[in-house]
Amino acid sequence: MADKTKYDVLVIGSLNADLVVRAPRFPQPGETISGGDLLTIPGGKGANQAVAAARQGANVAMVGRVGKDNFAPFLIENLNANQVNTLHVSQDNLASGTAIIIVDENGQNSIVISPGANGKVDAQDVDSAPDAKILLLQFEIPMETALHAAKRYKANGTTVILNPAPARQIPDELFAHVDILVPNESELSLLADMPVTDEKSAELAAQEILKQGVKIVIVTLGSKGALIITNSQATHVETFNVDVVDSTAAGDAFIGGLASKLLNLESSGVPLNTKQQAAQLQNAVRYGCACGALAATKLGAQPSLPRKDEVEAFLNQSPTTDS
Ligand code: RIB
Repeated sequence: MADKTKYDVLVIGSLNADLVVRAPRFPQPGETISGGDLLTIPGGKGANQAVAAARQGANVAMVGRVGKDNFAPFLIENLNANQVNTLHVSQDNLASGTAIIIVDENGQNSIVISPGANGKVDAQDVDSAPDAKILLLQFEIPMETALHAAKRYKANGTTVILNPAPARQIPDELFAHVDILVPNESELSLLADMPVTDEKSAELAAQEILKQGVKIVIVTLGSKGALIITNSQATHVETFNVDVVDSTAAGDAFIGGLASKLLNLESSGVPLNTKQQAAQLQNAVRYGCACGALAATKLGAQPSLPRKDEVEAFLNQSPTTDS
């Protein structure tokens, strides 16, 4: 039976089983080093962002594919346990998406992905997906599927947010169907085809993207916070100092938190027009920064994503640092 619900947030994206080992450092090419115990953790950029938004109270559905293996029920059950609707996650006769992750003692990671069933998400999955106020897309599914989804949902008036990760070349026409682009510095550099080394160069690169139809670019800068760039202004939002245990999924936590806050603004479309809307967008980005900072204090992807009460308590204790 067709799902007639209009969700707050729909994610069309990947589900991965993350196979994680902590190591003192990353091995050199050809080198073998010894790490800690192997952990199997639910991840995947799409599923992480779905859980991140659901933990902030949004009504979320996930569209994607898993394989026919032991990881499949593990990945789906974890989404269900986080109140993410999985009616539109189907099963293929191959392996589930997998990510091999090394986390070093500074909390930085190095990841190799095996797409598995994520590589089969297609236009039919998009066409049978339910309506939503906000669509979240990333690049762990085929590019043509992401493009098809952006076109379909943008035409319906859904706010389309694209996290262009992992970094890939994209068809030029995609930008015209995206409202908010959320790249990190290296993704932005690839997309704009120019070096991004500081705030000024990030602003210039983002302006190139805005010319192609995106309304807002939010550049995530890791420990330096985020930069919001629109046609009329560039605003820096600082993040929070935390002891980093594992940065995996910090960006996904940011996007889920941001999306949940943008829901308050969704009825008036992408917030651009008034000073009040610009301030609300800034607050939503600050909220996303808090979600990302908290996620970095814990090991793993989905288990590290903070809940609404944790984020609110953290923000209440943290001085405002917006500039
Ligand atoms: O963004 C973090 C995610 O990237 C991990 O969970 C891993 O699955 C990779 O997709």
